[in-house]
Amino acid sequence: AKRWKGLIEEYREWLPVTEDTPSLTLQEGNTPLIRLDNLSREWDIDLYVKTEGANPTGSFKDRGMVMAVAKAKEEGKSALICASTGNTSASAAAYGARAGMRTVVVIPEGKIALGKLAQAKMYGAEILEIEGNFDEALRMVRETGGDDIAVVNSVNPYRLEGQKTIAFEAIEQLGKVPDVFALPVGNAGNISAAWKGFKEYSEKRGTDRPQLLGVQAAGAAPIVNGAPVEQPETIATAIRIGNPASWQLAEAALAESNGNILAVTDDEILEAYKLIASREGVFAEPASCATIAGIKKQLESGGLKRGATVVGVLTGNGLKDPDTAILANEDSRPITQEEFETFISGIKAEAR
Ligand code: F0G
Repeated sequence: AKRWKGLIEEYREWLPVTEDTPSLTLQEGNTPLIRLDNLSREWDIDLYVKTEGANPTGSFKDRGMVMAVAKAKEEGKSALICASTGNTSASAAAYGARAGMRTVVVIPEGKIALGKLAQAKMYGAEILEIEGNFDEALRMVRETGGDDIAVVNSVNPYRLEGQKTIAFEAIEQLGKVPDVFALPVGNAGNISAAWKGFKEYSEKRGTDRPQLLGVQAAGAAPIVNGAPVEQPETIATAIRIGNPASWQLAEAALAESNGNILAVTDDEILEAYKLIASREGVFAEPASCATIAGIKKQLESGGLKRGATVVGVLTGNGLKDPDTAILANEDSRPITQEEFETFISGIKAEAR
C-alpha cells in the first residue's frame, strides 16, 4: 500500500523516536512541491514552492507538533500549553485532541486570523486571550512547564526535530538540493529547524547545502534591524513577533549557510499574496507570501542569480485568513440581468 504514514513513521531513523513513542499522526508532511511556471519564466529563475498549507491543520506547524505531542505523551504529561499567533494553537489543539490531552493556548487579543481561531475552538482547546502581544504570551507560557504540562512552542526541542523534515522532503521531491531555500521568519524556529535538516542530510548523504533566505515583515523585523521590536505590527499577523525565541539559532543558520535575511513591507507582502494566487493558482496566507516578496526583492537587488533553483516555503494555507483576502480585493455588488448580459458579451467579444 502507498498510504503515507505520517512523519514519525516515514522519518523514524532521523527522529528521536523510541519504542515507547506513541505512533501519533494526522498524516502530516509529504506536502506538494509546486513549480511556479509563470513566475519562473518572468523572473528567469527555477522557482518552486513547498505548500505547507496542505498539512492537516493547514500549516507547517504540524511537522513539529506531531513530534512534540508524541514526546509529551511518552513522558507522561497530561496537558499541552503554547503561545501563538494562531497556527501553533490550531496545530497543538488538533494533536492534543488526537492524543487525548488537555490543550491550553495563549493568544494576543484580536490579532489571530479568523480561520485559526475557528480551528482552536473546534479542536476543543482552552483559549486564553491576553492584552499583550505574542512575545508577552510566550514569556508567560515559558514559566508554566513542568512534569504535568508540556510547553509546545518551538523552544521545545522536539518541535525543531519534526520541522527539520521539510528539508528532507524538499531535496527528495526536487531530486537535488536547491541553490536557495527561502522562508518567512517570526519566532525563528522554522529557519533553525530547516537548517538542521539540511545539515543532517548533507552529513548522512553527502549532499550540498542551500543558501538560506529569511524574510521578515518590515514592522516586525528584529533580526534584520539587530534589535528587538517593542510593538511589532504587520498585516502578516502570523509573524507579528518582536523578540524571536530562536534568534541566535537563526543567526547561526544564516551565517553557516552564507545566507541572507531581509525585510519586506506590508504592501510588498500583499502584492506577492495576490500575485501567486492570481497568476499561479496558489493561495497562501500573508506571512507565507513574505517569502515570495523576499525572493522578488533579492532578484531586484542582484542578490539572487538568474537561473538559480529556489524553493520558497509557503508556511500556511490562504483560507486561514479570509478577512485579509477579502480586504485585499475590490468590493463587488449585486448586478442586474442586463448588466450580466453586457458583461458576458464583453467576454465573448474579447475572445474573438
Ligand atoms: N509563517 C506562518 C504561517 C506562521 O504561522 C509562522 C509562525 C511563521 C511563518 C514563522 O515561523 O516562528 O518558526 O519563524 N507562527 C507561530 C504561531 C509564531 O504561533 O503560529 P517561525
